[in-house]
This record gives sequence, C-alpha cells and structure tokens, in this order.
Amino acid sequence: MLCLVCKPTSLLHCDYPAKRKSMFRLLPCSSIKILLIMLSVNIFWLVRVYPPAHNTNAGQSVPQLKAEAMPGCPQNLEVVNKPLPLPKYSFEGALPVKNNNTISLTFDNIDLRYGRWDSQQMYKIKDFAVVGDQYAESSEASLICLATQSSVERLYSLPQVAENWRGPLSVALFSAGNEEYIVLRYFVTYLRLCFPNVKANATFHILVPREFDNLPTVQMDTVNIKNKYNCQYPERTLKALLKFRTAKTLEWRQKNTYPQNHMRNVARKGCQSKYVFLTDVDIIPSINSVVQLNHFFKTARCEGSCAYVIPTFEIDVRATFPRTKDTLIALIKKGLARPFHEKVFIYNQYATNFTRWLLSKRNETAVSVSHTVTNFEFLYEPFYIAIDKVPVHDERFTGYGFTRNSQVYEMYVAGYKFLVLSPVFTCHWGLQRKQARPAWREQQNNANRKKFDVFKSEIFARYKNDPHL
Ligand SMILES: *[C@@H]1O[C@H](CO)[C@@H](O)[C@H](O)[C@H]1NC(C)=O
Ligand SMILES: *[C@@H]1O[C@H](CO)[C@@H](O)[C@H](O)[C@H]1NC(C)=O
Ligand SMILES: *[C@@H]1O[C@H](CO)[C@@H](O)[C@H](O)[C@H]1NC(C)=O
Ligand SMILES: *[C@@H]1O[C@H](CO)[C@@H](O)[C@H](O)[C@H]1NC(C)=O
Repeated sequence: MLCLVCKPTSLLHCDYPAKRKSMFRLLPCSSIKILLIMLSVNIFWLVRVYPPAHNTNAGQSVPQLKAEAMPGCPQNLEVVNKPLPLPKYSFEGALPVKNNNTISLTFDNIDLRYGRWDSQQMYKIKDFAVVGDQYAESSEASLICLATQSSVERLYSLPQVAENWRGPLSVALFSAGNEEYIVLRYFVTYLRLCFPNVKANATFHILVPREFDNLPTVQMDTVNIKNKYNCQYPERTLKALLKFRTAKTLEWRQKNTYPQNHMRNVARKGCQSKYVFLTDVDIIPSINSVVQLNHFFKTARCEGSCAYVIPTFEIDVRATFPRTKDTLIALIKKGLARPFHEKVFIYNQYATNFTRWLLSKRNETAVSVSHTVTNFEFLYEPFYIAIDKVPVHDERFTGYGFTRNSQVYEMYVAGYKFLVLSPVFTCHWGLQRKQARPAWREQQNNANRKKFDVFKSEIFARYKNDPHL
C-alpha cells in the first residue's frame, strides 16, 4: 500500500527534486507497483514539460487537486532557473522576523476587517494598501501607468515587468484567506526589498473574498523562511512561501472562480496617470517602453475614441528577452518567438495583423502608429493603452473565458478605433501548445458564454448598435 503515497495530491507543491527522490525510495515495492510508479512519474514529467495551455488571464491558475493544473507551479522550469540580474540593492538571505523586527512586513497598518465592498458584496477591497515610495511623483511625471492584477502564485513575474517598465504600476492582488495573505505580506516585502523599481513605483491593492475569515489562519511566527529569500530567484522564493497554504485554502481556490474583472477594475482605478495600460501580470513590456510611450503620448491626437494596441508575442523560455524590435524579429526568424496564442487560438490577436507590424521600418526608435485595425473580430483580445474612460470590465464574468474580450467587444460596439503601436511590444514567456482544456476551464467558459449572451444584448441596446459579428 506504500505506493499509494504517489497520489496526485502529494504533488501539489511541485517540489520536483525532493518528490522525485521520495518516489524512488518506494522502489522496494513489487514489480507491478514499480511499473505504476514509473508510469505516474512519467505522467508527472509529461505534465511538467508540457504544461496546460496557458490562458491570457494572469490570475486564472485555479488550484487543482489533480496534476493537470498545479497551483503555483511555474509554467517553465527554465524560467525558474534563469537568474535575474542581481539587483544593486541586494537583500542577503536575511528575513523579516517578528522577534527581531529589523524590517517590518508590508501591509502592517492594514485591517482587513473592513474595506470597500464590490457591487455584489462578495469582495472587500483595500485600495492603495502599499503605495510606491515615488508613486505620486512618478504618476505626475508619466502620462501612462501600467495596471495589472495577480493571484498570489503568479506574482513572481512582477520584478521583470517593473524592471522593463520603469514607470508607475498599479497592482491588484487577490488573497483568498489568511494563509495567502501571509504569503503576500512576505512576498511583497521581498519584492520591495529586492527590486528598487517595485519599491519606488509599484502601488498594491488587495481584494479578499467575504469568506476570508472562514479560511485557515496561520500564526506569523510559525512562518520561517530563513535563507529562502533570494533576489535573483523570485519564482523559487515564491514557491517556498506558497507551501504555507494548506489543502483547505487550495480547495477553496478550486471551488471559487478567480474574480479577474474585479481585479482589473481595481488596478485600473488605482492608476493616476492619463492613460492606462492594462495587462496580466505575466505580460512583460518591452524594455524602457514607458519613456518611448511618453514621447508618443505627449503629442498623440485622436479623432473620436482610440485604444492603442501593443502587440504581444510568446517567446521560447530558452531565449533572452529581446531588447529591441529587431532582436524580436531575429527570434521570430529562428522560431523562438511568435504572435501570442498563434497556435492555441489565433483569433485572440489576429486582428492586430502582425504581418503589417513586422513589415514596418527597421531601427525605429520613436513610437508611432504602425496601422489601424481594420478587421476587428469577435474574441479579439489585445492589450491596449487608453484613457481610462473605456468601459469597465463587467464583474459578472469571473473565472475563465469572456472576461477581457467581452470588454474589448464593448469598446468595438461603442465605436473605439484600435491603433497598433510600434516598435513597443510585450512578451509572454513560453511557446503555447494546443491541448485539451481541463474540465474546470470548460465549465467556467460555458458558464461565462451564457452570461455573454445577456451581456451582448445589453450592450447592443446601450449603444444602439449591432455590428453582426
Ligand atoms: C537583530 O538583527 C540585527 C541585524 O541582523 C543583529 O545585529 C542583532 O544582533 C539582532 N538582535 C537580536 C536580539 O537577535
Ligand atoms: C520610477 O518611475 C519613473 C518614471 O515615472 C522613473 O523615472 C524612475 O526611474 C522609476 N524609479 C525606479 C527606481 O525605477
Ligand atoms: C495584413 O496586412 C497585410 C499587409 O498589408 C495584408 O496583405 C493582409 O491582407 C492583412 N491581413 C488582414 C487579415 O487584414
Ligand atoms: C540598425 O542599426 C544598427 C546599429 O546602429 C546597424 O548596425 C544596423 O545595420 C541597422 N539595421 C538596419 C536594418 O538598418
């Protein structure tokens, strides 16, 4: 019966090296059992090497008790092991310990017993839970602010986003319960200590469910992460912290859909600049884009209502992040990069017309409009910059499917023009492969499709426009 230890739930924390060892320790089992183990090891590694098709929505990795969608598991091992450049201000393995409080944890003065309710009283919101040290000045100096949102297990992408962006960032964080909240407190502390641009320019907002207090509580003192902090490895650091979540919290996450549209609205409204660039947390902007974009928006004039699309590419985890559009083009030629979702769901970005974007002149430095989207398609889901008067993200959509593209669709019906900018771009790590959707995603997608029919008739009535797409 020893072999039953290999049940999928024991893989929940995706602690691969240790888990692999413990599996091999089971080898004295009978040969049939060995075969079974080898098979499950194989399946496990297959799932690890070919992770489930990633969705565009940063917070959507819903914890599953099956191996198919393990929470907090990095999509790509290579990314885990690729060190970030060591920050100038390095934080050498020390940790904020309660008894020797040399560094206090973030969200120190936040009382989660009260907060702003969402419209359905399902979530409490703490706007501006931690404000970047230079957020006010930075927001005044920049015409664009990046708004993003994340569940706790995906937050490791933020350092690279902040590193490339170098401007104001408004980040909405979801915390299912006390355990996730503790993880967030440690990890945001770590982010602020390790990454100067996070400390200076990132402002965090928190959203917690009404049931927050019914989820397990951990004592802060029991959280010992000594020597686990490493500024070069945010993903590893976060993974170590995520182990504090118990099965009960993970089960709650599995049963409850992630409120990504609530999160997007919170992040958007936390921006103080004229323009907002709403992304998901794993969408990495090209290097120094905020300076280039500020130049462009200083003189940008728009007839009517405009949204400025920043094209998104997926890049092979073995590649180095492209420093310029020309290096991105070189990666595409080598097959190490391609338009986001090209192989998984082409309509996601198709209307952007990458052919035209890639044809534009070489060695561009100044941002300009490459072309206007002429063939808008239903389910088009670009990341765009716009004045934050664009329609809100409808909070009836939660979980997977119809969350972002429904908002873009409303913009289209409302008469927005989509202008594609060059040479700025964004990247997502990992080439996506087409695979069967896990059952939970299919369910959430179907539930949202039904809501979408209602949504569609509402917006046709509101704008007196039915584009018959
Ligand atoms: C607290 O931490 C500081 C700096 O790491 C150290 O010098 C000091 O000895 C510590 N104090 C106690 C009481 O542990
Ligand atoms: C914060 O953003 C401003 C632009 O708004 C930028 O000039 C500054 O370098 C950023 N700070 C850090 C530490 O990256
Ligand atoms: C994209 O642009 C190319 C080059 O201008 C054009 O030939 C093609 O028809 C466009 N594709 C779509 C779908 O509009
Ligand atoms: C772009 O600029 C670089 C360096 O300035 C130069 O070596 C390269 O030939 C240029 N490429 C094109 C296509 O003009």
